[in-house]
Amino acid sequence: MDNKKRVFVTREILPEGLAILKKKFDVDLWTDYAPPSKDTIIEHIKEADAILTMLSDKIDSEVIEAAPKLKVISQLAVGYDNIDLNAAKKRGIYVTNTPDALTDASADFSFALMLAITRRVVEADKYVRAGKWKVAWHPTMMLGAPLHGTTLGIIGAGRIGQAMAKRGRGFDMKILYYNRSPKPDFEKECGAQRVDLDRLLKESDFVSLHVPLNEQTLGMINAEKIGLMKKTAYLISNARGPVIDEKALYEALKNKKIAGAALDVFCKEPIKKNNPLLELDNIVVAPHISSANTTTRAKMSVMTAEDITAVLMGKEPKNIVVKGSF
Ligand code: DGY
Repeated sequence: MDNKKRVFVTREILPEGLAILKKKFDVDLWTDYAPPSKDTIIEHIKEADAILTMLSDKIDSEVIEAAPKLKVISQLAVGYDNIDLNAAKKRGIYVTNTPDALTDASADFSFALMLAITRRVVEADKYVRAGKWKVAWHPTMMLGAPLHGTTLGIIGAGRIGQAMAKRGRGFDMKILYYNRSPKPDFEKECGAQRVDLDRLLKESDFVSLHVPLNEQTLGMINAEKIGLMKKTAYLISNARGPVIDEKALYEALKNKKIAGAALDVFCKEPIKKNNPLLELDNIVVAPHISSANTTTRAKMSVMTAEDITAVLMGKEPKNIVVKGSF
């Protein structure tokens, strides 16, 4: 009789992680590119001792209750707003995530978004490909806004926010930050100045979001807050879509109340083709790919697999969001 422990992996992760799981466990791998439905997750989790989840899998109390043997939910992301932590806690199920591994990849992408919107990179590519480049050079061709030496406002000075600020320092940017608690080491290292949210919004040329999604941050960047931003400022986010009131952002962009936005995350993902944001030309969009580089995703895959292995072998995992029991 095969009494190996069973792990449900809700998407094809990188082989480095799968190999770790396959060595010890019976791996039930969801190989479709599209996610399993909630009913499918429930069906598979019934027999599972562990589940390896993505941020787009809703792991609510109904799913957790359907899993009598479940010991660990290991999330391939740093954010975990898709998981009902209380329901996991009640059942003594560990929840783990992948911090650190994606800090630099995410900050790199925030910076890429910022450069793309301000220096019109996407527009320039489309312009050339469309055969619109008829004059070799002109002093007013595709003027963008300056970035070097401007002010970068970081909302949420956790690991990714701080990494973004470091990149900003490389461009001689002045760094303002808004965070619940002061970060003296960060202030020293980056010359960052802690200010309240309104001041940050009023004074920054670029506002970059790095907060998790929770009750305090849901809709945090609403019409009133966007209204405080400079007309020339840009909003950058690869945090979570619902932190921004998307309707308010649309109005602000359409009416040129701010200069532009660059987003990797949306209230509903994937974004619908007819989402009004996509009609605007002062926005750059991406399909939630901030951590998507090969090294980072391999590291994330290994971290999730190692944490599952630890729990199923009766050991404490490394990256604990909720401490479970054995
Ligand atoms: C995370 O880890 O929360 C990121 O959004 C994944 O790219």
